[in-house]
Amino acid sequence: MKDRIAELKKEIEDYLIDGEDSLEQFRIAYLSKKGQISVLFDGFRNVPPEAKRDTGQLLNDLKQFAAEKYSGNKERLSMTEMVQSSVDLTMPAYPFAEGTRHPISIVRNEIIDIFSRIGFTVSEGPEIEDDNHVFTMLNFASDHPARDMQDTFFIEKKSGTESDPHDVLLRTHTSSVQVRVMENEKPPIRTISPGRVFRNEAVSARAHCIFHQVEGLYVAENVSFADLKQTLLYFATELFGKDVRIRLRPSFFPFTEPSAEMDISCNICGGKGCNVCKGTGWLELLGCGMVDPNVLEACGIDPVKYTGYAFGMGIERATMLKYGVNDLRLYFENDIRFLNQFRTEIL
Ligand code: PHE
Repeated sequence: MKDRIAELKKEIEDYLIDGEDSLEQFRIAYLSKKGQISVLFDGFRNVPPEAKRDTGQLLNDLKQFAAEKYSGNKERLSMTEMVQSSVDLTMPAYPFAEGTRHPISIVRNEIIDIFSRIGFTVSEGPEIEDDNHVFTMLNFASDHPARDMQDTFFIEKKSGTESDPHDVLLRTHTSSVQVRVMENEKPPIRTISPGRVFRNEAVSARAHCIFHQVEGLYVAENVSFADLKQTLLYFATELFGKDVRIRLRPSFFPFTEPSAEMDISCNICGGKGCNVCKGTGWLELLGCGMVDPNVLEACGIDPVKYTGYAFGMGIERATMLKYGVNDLRLYFENDIRFLNQFRTEIL
């Protein structure tokens, strides 16, 4: 028996498998039910008991040897077949159709990045708000004419009067998020709130009823207007490049006192005056100011101990200035000829 096993092993070793046919013949000859190895297994019962152990071991090894030769060759042949077929494995793959980030997302992420480098956290809040968080707590008196500054989409008018503090509406600015942060956290607070806002305006190249804002808030002891100005200068140079200059013009917002609007030097003409900046050399970017003590008080923050600054800007506007986009509607049409121009931006 042992001799026969050795003989068969040699035979299997030498067996040439060079194609599907010889592979199948190999299987039938050695591994099938009627194959040579099965024949040996049948004869195993006649092996004398004292030799059973050794012989059994040899027989199992032989079977495994044949099975491995079979599967190894089967795999090799199927690979060969693939390579020989019409598929050219050396051909470069089709380019992967990567999407592009929307310019609004690119600039939003960049603004977040710039402010997080100086310790600002990111806060979010609901788009469907109440009158209280959008207006009342921000020092808009119930009959304050400033409420007319922002044409609001009302969802539910609880009292039928415009002054009802619980009217449900779409937020007109993300200052509402800052109110929510101030209600829930203790100073020092240093946060920005990016998000979508809604105003009831006719859609044109310069206005849209949906747009995006990033507003910032810093409340702590001894926060001054100088801190605000330095922060905004840092922000402008990070977003628009080191040569940009800023200027602050007095302005009015119900929730800040004093208030200002910030312009950046025109990045098209470098401040000399062109048709983009209408000859002024300046482009308006954002609103800002020192948080009105009434707002701090309404949010449960001691206005004697703490002061704060706030600022807010439209992301569409910042993107227009950064990339020279001249029509707001382009952001919403998703024309890929427009979007593809931002392919190289990574953020
Ligand atoms: N909330 C203002 C707006 O929507 C922007 C702003 C924020 C102005 C903070 C001053 C301070 O126009």
